[in-house]
Amino acid sequence: MQLIGYCGKILKRARINPDEMKIYIDTANIEEIREAASWGILDGVTTNPTLVSKEGKKFEDIVKEIFKLVEGPISLEVVSLDCDGMVKEANELAKTNKNAVIKIPMCIEGLKAIKILSKEGIKTNCTLIFSANQALLAAKAGATYVSPFVGRLDDIGQRGMTVVEETKQIFNNYNIKTQIIAASIRHPIHVIEAAKAGADIATIPFKVLEQMTKHSLTDAGIKKFLDDWKKVPK
Ligand code: E4P
Repeated sequence: MQLIGYCGKILKRARINPDEMKIYIDTANIEEIREAASWGILDGVTTNPTLVSKEGKKFEDIVKEIFKLVEGPISLEVVSLDCDGMVKEANELAKTNKNAVIKIPMCIEGLKAIKILSKEGIKTNCTLIFSANQALLAAKAGATYVSPFVGRLDDIGQRGMTVVEETKQIFNNYNIKTQIIAASIRHPIHVIEAAKAGADIATIPFKVLEQMTKHSLTDAGIKKFLDDWKKVPK
């Protein structure tokens, strides 16, 4: 009896755990977003100017479609380099939907903009984070999210996940509420490492999401079950 009660408690906690790592898709492609959303695992979307440029569509049109498909935080990036320009763009983007999160690049002008926007109650995602110090400053300025780019650091021979791990430790030490988005994810092992490091969110390209669903033993197992089912007398 005691055992049943204990297991029940664990299951309940797992089902309602608000602290699970969230999964965002890192794309501006509507079909990919639609497909991933249909799996029932999607919590949000991140875009950037490069991802938008691949679609050959107007930014505003892409954004409208994304808001229709996903009820969750959608990161949209500013392209101004000065604080005033960033704040102006952010205000325009924030008006489009309550779920808009404004991506601000990590730099001094960006920090100033994040401070102003956080006072206005506009959610920000400080992007292009490559060190825990940058993450600390962004959080101090009031960023809702910070996005350490794991893959781009790996690309230059530095272990990108270290930034996620160090940032998590620092935020834990001081009870900092800024959420960590493990970004620039290149493969499924990055996702496991991000979850082990305690990232609040992993933003994942569609291809990697697909890879995460697959295992050759699963495919072989399904085939064997179906083959054996044919042998059952009907
Ligand atoms: C994050 O928000 C960025 O859009 C993204 O993860 C960058 O990834 P990349 O290094 O694959 O371009």
